[in-house]
Amino acid sequence: MTGSNQTAIPSTLYPVSASFAATAHISSREAYDALCAEAQQDHAAYWARLAREFLTWQKPFTQSLDESQAPFYKWFEDGHINASYNCLDRHVQAGLGDKVAIIFEADDGKVTRITYSELLARVSRLANALKAQGVKKGDRVVLYLPMSVEGVVAMQACARIGATHSVVFGGFSAQSLRDRIEDAGAVLLITADEQLRGGKALPLKAIADDALALGGCDSIRKVIVFKRTGGAVNMVAGRDVWLHDVTAAQSEQCAPEWVSAEHPLFLLYTSGSTGKPKGVQHSTGGYLLHAAVTTKWTFDLKPDDVFWCTADIGWVTGHTYVAYGPLALGGTQIVFEGVPTYPDAARFWRMIEAHKVSIFYTAPTAIRALIKAAESHAEVHPRNFDLSSLRLLGTVGEPINPAAWEWYFKEIGGGRCPIVDTFWQTETGGHMITPLPGAHGLTPGSCTLPFPGIDAAVVDETGKEVPWGQGGLLVVRKPWPSMIRTIWGDPDRFQKSYYPPDFGGKYYLAGDGAIRDAETGYFTITGRIDDVLNVSGHRMGTMEIESALVSHPLVAEAAVVGRPDDLTGEAICAFVVLKRTRPTGEEAKKLAIELRNHVGHEIGPIAKPKDIRFGDNLPKTRSGKIMRRLLRVIAKGESVTQDTSTLENPAILDQLSESN
Ligand code: PRX
Repeated sequence: MTGSNQTAIPSTLYPVSASFAATAHISSREAYDALCAEAQQDHAAYWARLAREFLTWQKPFTQSLDESQAPFYKWFEDGHINASYNCLDRHVQAGLGDKVAIIFEADDGKVTRITYSELLARVSRLANALKAQGVKKGDRVVLYLPMSVEGVVAMQACARIGATHSVVFGGFSAQSLRDRIEDAGAVLLITADEQLRGGKALPLKAIADDALALGGCDSIRKVIVFKRTGGAVNMVAGRDVWLHDVTAAQSEQCAPEWVSAEHPLFLLYTSGSTGKPKGVQHSTGGYLLHAAVTTKWTFDLKPDDVFWCTADIGWVTGHTYVAYGPLALGGTQIVFEGVPTYPDAARFWRMIEAHKVSIFYTAPTAIRALIKAAESHAEVHPRNFDLSSLRLLGTVGEPINPAAWEWYFKEIGGGRCPIVDTFWQTETGGHMITPLPGAHGLTPGSCTLPFPGIDAAVVDETGKEVPWGQGGLLVVRKPWPSMIRTIWGDPDRFQKSYYPPDFGGKYYLAGDGAIRDAETGYFTITGRIDDVLNVSGHRMGTMEIESALVSHPLVAEAAVVGRPDDLTGEAICAFVVLKRTRPTGEEAKKLAIELRNHVGHEIGPIAKPKDIRFGDNLPKTRSGKIMRRLLRVIAKGESVTQDTSTLENPAILDQLSESN
């Protein structure tokens, strides 16, 4: 479990770029060390200083950290703040109204620019419309929207009136959307007629209709529909209204609702190792603080930068580094509707050239796919494009293999741009372990050192720090402002999942293994230590996929494991026992397709298993426990050399090793 058999990444160190450091916000290792020392000396005072410097408070807080109900920590609680005011009004008031906030590029290439004044006006109109529809402070609003300006506007509009948004990624199924609406008890849903990606339309409104028809969504009173494509939709009288209709007559002024810093800004559902996806609850003040500080220090964001984070708003990266971080700093950013491979695999490079992007942040999976494309089709190779505007690159979501890192560094960054490999999670709200590009030399495959004020450590199962060079569990020993506050509606699960009694209930357990380099102390994440998979940077719980499989009438039992995949990082491999005899040959192939589609229908296409194997049974101990470690070996195509003496039915291993 500790990952101690992992070896550290060899330290091919790329020194800090002197020219980058010369103008960086955090410009040396000494500057980084000084910040860490300040936090070390007085953790709460350090974060309080930053909270005063980075955010505008309507009523200043008097206490930084409240630990009285640990691990339900509170930050800046008696301070009053509004996230939308901090992202919009204060920049307009400071004379930045005409500055471009968002450069939106549609799937078909059409470009729209939105200034801070325009964004504020649109957010205010929608905020007024939400109020007119009866949405109040503390109500939950679910957003099921494409990557769009409207998506960002909707998030900001909720924040403006103190409603808690919960964005559901457009790739999730009706069932998944329904579950999230029900769990959140949302009063209103904002969706679009269709989502357009890679030239293909996905009928979001029709899926939303299906979700609501599944039942359990009685809390929903209204559905607001953004007309994106003009595709046919069925508007339910009395329930469904068009976004353009409800905003048309609304004023462009909407006074922000001042809320406690602890007021829930959003819920975002993510997968755990057991049970249904959990609603990670984030605060307003602490979350926004970390979004702003990390955007400034990790990305070294400056007023003239053109920042581009390619993540969808359906994921936490699209929250912190699209909807909040860059706007909190008054930055200019790209919002892109489409996919990296349409109309061809040079889309990213063409866009970087066209918009003179200076900071580019994407996922290793995208890089790996684009390497493959560039190597087989010369015309989409990045060398054909002028990428000289770039000064910093970033990655997130999964480990980046050193070969992909090197390619990104040389072919995209021209050997000139540092790469920030940012480790964090939905629960952490923002970067936890990441290089600060003016302060840290880089090692491909390592996320280097904790962000100043983040007390990350690698420990053994008793909570004792392990020596550098030895693998262990990644924990965070002190609370931090943007940390998860609770799991919506399930505080026990929050406490058990993240603050288990193993470490006296005092350490945040990330759920990842890690190892620190013996010389530099740099962290490398060795992967999840629980039953959570990471497929193309998307987090999936094995149990969710298993539940989806067993909901098919033919399936008796299913076990899901991950196996390494060159392109997607991990791939989903499912072992299935049917209620009837084990299928083989063509029948097995047909059934595998059917089950794959069934999972797609239940959860969403991202959860479809790549590999489905059928057996008469699963490998189990005498007490009936499925031996997943053996399934992991089989999934990799390796033969089992481990001890199988506790296995009740060893013959099953050969059967499951045969692919269909
Ligand atoms: O396993 C780690 C991996 O992604 C998990 C968090 O997933 P999610 O909550 O969906 O958030 C993804 C975007 C922040 C982590 O537990 N992970 C994330 N970033 C990295 C990473 N693994 C290695 N290196 C990273 N930079």
